[in-house]
Parts: sequence; C-alpha cells; structure tokens
Amino acid sequence: MIDLHCHLLHSMDDGSDSIETSIKMCEIAYKDGIRKIVATPHFNEIWKPTLGMIEKKIKEIKEKLNFQLSIFPGSDITLFYGIYELIKEKKVIPLNLTKYLLIQLPHIFDPRVIENLIFQIQLEGFSVIISHPERQSFFMENPSFLKELIKRGCLVQITAGSITGKFGKKIQKFTKYLLRNDLVHIIATDAHSDKYRKPVLSESVEIARKWIGNRAEEMVSTFPEKILNGEEI
Ligand SMILES: [Fe+2]
Repeated sequence: MIDLHCHLLHSMDDGSDSIETSIKMCEIAYKDGIRKIVATPHFNEIWKPTLGMIEKKIKEIKEKLNFQLSIFPGSDITLFYGIYELIKEKKVIPLNLTKYLLIQLPHIFDPRVIENLIFQIQLEGFSVIISHPERQSFFMENPSFLKELIKRGCLVQITAGSITGKFGKKIQKFTKYLLRNDLVHIIATDAHSDKYRKPVLSESVEIARKWIGNRAEEMVSTFPEKILNGEEI
C-alpha cells in the first residue's frame, strides 16, 4: 500500500516530534503493509517547509531504517491569502514533485472564492487533491460543492480514521456516503505520531471494502501509484 498523506518528518510541524517517533511511525506503517509514504508536512501561514528541509529529514530517517520503505517529498497545503503566489513561484512542494498538490480548504470559506482559486491553480498546470473534506462541516452540509469540484477536475482524499470511526459517528457516516457516491479517490492516514494518529491503512480498507467492494484497495494502491508517477486518474 501507499500512504500519500503523512506527517512523518520530525520537528517540522505538529506531526512527529523526534526522529525516534519518525522511525516508530515507519515501523508501524511497514508492519501494516505500507511500502511507500509521501512525507507531507503542513504548508500554511505558520509553517513553510522547503524541499531542501524535507529531503534532509527524509535522508536522516532513511539512514536509520533497516527495511525497504520508500519515502517521497510532498506537503499538506492549506489555502490562505498569498498561497496562489507561492504556488505560482513553485515554493510549495507537490506530491513527489509531480503536478499533484494536496490541498485542504480553510475551516470557513466562500465556495465561489475557492472555486476560482482552484481554477487559477489548475491554470498553472497543477492537479488539485482535496484533503479530507469528510472532516469539514461545510462539505457535510453541502456535498454538492464537492461534486462540483470533482467535475472541475479535483481528486478527493479521505482519512483512514474517518472510515474506522476515529473522528466520531457523524464523520464516519458522511465518509460512507462519499465512498458510496463515488466521491473519493484516495485513502491516506494523515498520521501525526506513533500513538493516537498512527500510519495505519489496512483496518480502514477492510471496512471500506464492505461498503464499496474492491475499489477500496485501488484507493491505497493503483490510484496513489499513478499520482506518485504524475499520471492521470
Ligand atoms: Fe495533514
């Protein structure tokens, strides 16, 4: 399996707090059957990681691993005022440096502004993956807006823990709705540590398989592989 969204890198954001934690996270992921991870530290108003910083941390972790786990650079981008300029100047880090940007929307937003901003980002040659909309009340109240974004070429990533019920029954129910209505392309861990939010996918895939069949597996294998390679889905 492939995990496209993981706060694996130590001391970069609110994810892993030390290299020891990062190593433990790698071990948990590997045991779960994950063989490729995209390290996606937050890129927002507070944190602005550079590719150099990310590559340095990946190297530090890789040197301490005694099993085969591939780690790729990426970032978890939150939209804020000024982000478009940073994207245009190629300051943000796409998933494995492809055209795919992992983007989470702010808590409160004007859909018309967001739609326009995403369109501008697409005009720069990027493909947008909307990160965990199932955890945002706006989408819960307006799932049609998510449909609209998909119609306009966006992909959707949901969090494994939303499927297993880690974020509560309401989010779990909405996640099931999204999966059953073909509004999801990727399942990822969005792991932040080796304890509460761990890099585990298998449990959620098993549950999702009961809801939508074998397509659940594609969401942690075929589709993320295509994204890693910069191919179309
Ligand atoms: Fe994240």
